[in-house]
Amino acid sequence: MYLEVLTGISSYNENGECMGNTFGHLFRVTTFGESHGGAVGVVIDGCPPRVPVSVEEIQCELDRRRPGQSKLVTQRRESDTVHILSGVFEGKTLGTPICLLVWNEDARPEAYESFRELYRPSHADYTYDAKYGIRDWRGGGRSSARETVGRVAAGAIAKKILRERGVEIVGWVEKIHTLRAEVDPNTVTLEQVEANPVRCPDPAVAEAMAQAIEEARKQGDSLGGVVGCVARGVPPGWGDPVFDKLDADLAKAMLSIPAAKGFEIGSGFAGTDLTGSQHNDPFYVDDTGRVRTRTNYSGGVQGGISNGENIVIRVAFKPTATIMMPQETVNVHHEPAILQAKGRHDPCVLPRAVPIVEAMMALVLVDHYLRHRAQCGGE
Ligand SMILES: Cc1cc2nc3c(=O)[nH]c(=O)nc-3n(C[C@H](O)[C@H](O)[C@H](O)COP(=O)(O)O)c2cc1C
Repeated sequence: MYLEVLTGISSYNENGECMGNTFGHLFRVTTFGESHGGAVGVVIDGCPPRVPVSVEEIQCELDRRRPGQSKLVTQRRESDTVHILSGVFEGKTLGTPICLLVWNEDARPEAYESFRELYRPSHADYTYDAKYGIRDWRGGGRSSARETVGRVAAGAIAKKILRERGVEIVGWVEKIHTLRAEVDPNTVTLEQVEANPVRCPDPAVAEAMAQAIEEARKQGDSLGGVVGCVARGVPPGWGDPVFDKLDADLAKAMLSIPAAKGFEIGSGFAGTDLTGSQHNDPFYVDDTGRVRTRTNYSGGVQGGISNGENIVIRVAFKPTATIMMPQETVNVHHEPAILQAKGRHDPCVLPRAVPIVEAMMALVLVDHYLRHRAQCGGE
């Protein structure tokens, strides 16, 4: 290890783990690829055998993340067709590593020529250069949200395993800029979310949000917002003390999504406005003998372990970094410069972030389901 540090040739940490490209313990995903390289995808190790998986189910999730799906998102033309290269036989997982791959089809590096020399404010260009001394400047390279293709593909399989155990995950757009929708996490459905291109289940607010995004796009500007997500049907007992608390793992998963800036579970920051007597979730036993809570300020997790209530989270996304206005920056020689960006960008990442948040929720939950089963038994 010492020698490797001195020579700088190691890309592994002391546990032999790859640096930052792998997520999960028992359901372990490694994503690969850059925005304008040959392909993007994922290798999943540890997936249980005999899980029925079809290309169509994975494709369905990828289509929700795909660019070009409406005028509110980037117009890059990618079919994002998924190929199952290994680990699935006759429609079922084999228990061996699953490789899912999507070829990059509409890579136009010439549109990103200006980013070769200039650092985009609030993007990853400067920090990747500062760290590695080399960077793929075409479309953000590895820092591009194109990397999340692998997460969403793996998430489709994770969702399948969870669904068989009665767990359902639904994400939605809750806020765009200052426009906010009241959404009930206990009842919101996938159909309501998918009914409009913004993915906000309140049609009137969705319309106003779409107009705001369109207006920002016309002005060459961008907007941020909040994605909400719920996991319903998680039994009590998933999650580990102390460093691997379910909420801590969810926070890490969500903050690993490009452009994510904040994470809340349950009452989140708003809970600080309440007193303990207002905020505590009183216990009771329901008609079936189940221990329940009357309120859910905890967001379904207490002491890092699921309590059987709905797991409710919120993720804040910043306004897209690449905007079509002149911006003050510096170049790779550290000289002052003005950047006038070109290329195809999301004026607001929120509509496409919904399936990514759902996928990360599924990856955390399936990993904790397998860990709980390994330590405590049961199905
Ligand atoms: C679905 C999605 C689409 C995105 N599209 C763009 C984009 O078109 N242009 C851009 O500059 N950033 C986009 N981003 C965000 C950048 O990838 C991200 O801001 C950048 O890698 C810097 O990382 P950070 O914001 O997490 O610090 C997108 C993020 C997501 C989740």
